[in-house]
Amino acid sequence: MIIVVANSKGGVGKSTLAVHLAAWLHKQGHRVTLADCDTQQSSSEWIREAVPEVRAVRLDNPDMILNDLPQLCQETDFVVADGPGSQTETSRALLLRADLAIVPCKASMLEVRALAKATDVLRQAQDIRAGKPEAVIVLSMIGKNYRLTKDMMDAAAALDLPLATRALVLRQVYADAPGQGSVVWNLGSRAQEAAEEADLLFREILPGAVKIRGRKPSSVKSKKAAVA
Ligand SMILES: Nc1ncnc2c1ncn2[C@@H]1O[C@H](COP(=O)(O)OP(=O)(O)O)[C@@H](O)[C@H]1O
Ligand SMILES: [Mg+2]
Repeated sequence: MIIVVANSKGGVGKSTLAVHLAAWLHKQGHRVTLADCDTQQSSSEWIREAVPEVRAVRLDNPDMILNDLPQLCQETDFVVADGPGSQTETSRALLLRADLAIVPCKASMLEVRALAKATDVLRQAQDIRAGKPEAVIVLSMIGKNYRLTKDMMDAAAALDLPLATRALVLRQVYADAPGQGSVVWNLGSRAQEAAEEADLLFREILPGAVKIRGRKPSSVKSKKAAVA
């Protein structure tokens, strides 16, 4: 399964989400590749330090993405692609290959309104591919006492994209994790709340990937496919 973390805006939490998702899938017993498709290449360095068992590759041009992703997907159970901030052609290539797109978005009306523009390329891919990739919006960097407003739910509904009920709170520990070469599950008690919320978020998005009694499940389906 190829999962892309995509939003053409920078600084919305893509790399943080991609590295944590790759680490979480590894923790569930899957073989995982993290495809770093951003020219900054920070997530491949981060995952190499944090979870060396996850294979890290750099795919920073559209041809490499279109040509190499299917093979990578055969070699591991999951490919998690960390998308670029701005290179439209790189995003397009990823969305033409992905099974699932996770769209992180900061929790403000301005950011949610900007999502229409930031998901243009996603809609093109879904149009060309008869609805694929499935997509889900994940709110990132929300305040601790944040409540989803009706405005925001309406804005997400207008885009015809589901919104995950779990979200990632704005916490210093996420910002510290790359500098420590680690992920929240390995940062001890100060990261406990973050570790729990990230676990709940990924369980919600990928229920079929959750480890069952020490063994990984034989087939993995994303949220929508699992309930279909
Ligand atoms: N939930 C969070 N809480 C606090 N800081 C965060 C959180 N998610 C991301 N950050 C920080 O915000 C900045 C942008 O996040 P990043 O994952 O690099 O976004 P992107 O890849 O979309 O540019 C980074 O400094 C990162 O450490
Ligand atoms: Mg990034």
